[in-house]
Amino acid sequence: MDIYLETERLALRRFTADDADLLIELDSDPAVMRFLSGGVPTAPQVIRERHLPAILAGYEKWGGDLGLFAAHAKDDGAFIGWFILRPGREGPRDEVELGYRLRQLAWGRGYATEGSRALLHKAFTALGVRRVWAETMYVNRGSRNVMEKLAMTLVEGIPTPSDMERVEGAEQGGVRYEITKEQWEQRQ
Ligand SMILES: CC(C)(COP(=O)(O)OP(=O)(O)OC[C@H]1O[C@@H](n2cnc3c(N)ncnc32)[C@H](O)[C@@H]1OP(=O)(O)O)[C@@H](O)C(=O)NCCC(=O)NCCS
Repeated sequence: MDIYLETERLALRRFTADDADLLIELDSDPAVMRFLSGGVPTAPQVIRERHLPAILAGYEKWGGDLGLFAAHAKDDGAFIGWFILRPGREGPRDEVELGYRLRQLAWGRGYATEGSRALLHKAFTALGVRRVWAETMYVNRGSRNVMEKLAMTLVEGIPTPSDMERVEGAEQGGVRYEITKEQWEQRQ
């Protein structure tokens, strides 16, 4: 396994070209996709032809340091979902987005917080990152809880992207949280 990061209970690794089925299964659960697509699964063809190639291209672009990473439980090796630590499309390399998408069977065990906490540590101590941001829907309480446990600050409300207007709670918009390296150091 091409390990990127380890925590007490999780191992994060780079995806490979053989991982399409893991991503397809994750995005096929309407509960996982509730606040992302309104519960609609991502088409397998889109994952095979667009998402996975883009993930692999990202490792090339950022030397394997940033991107989307598969997370496995260390005790039984099960795939539990993914984490993202990645610059914006046109943004600077030292300002990165944090995100997470976990299989339903892995919810409620503190995994999102554990993986994210380790990613913040890596970002600020080893990757030269100055600011980490995260966005979610206003109504995605589970996701916001993670951001708040990480001591990220709610900085602004953001408009709902046009392709998410039919998602439940879309009329309340989204939220953006941030933490700078200085804030992270102070809040340790
Ligand atoms: C949102 C999501 C990532 C949350 O994942 P999670 O791992 O359940 O989140 P947390 O890390 O907050 O853990 C949840 C709860 O597990 C409980 N828990 C159980 N064992 C634990 C442990 N050993 N350590 C810490 N918490 C533990 C805690 O009660 C914790 O909640 P609390 O601290 O607020 O009381 C997950 O539900 C998900 O992937 N949803 C679908 C996709 C999605 O919406 N992604 C975000 C889009 S922006």
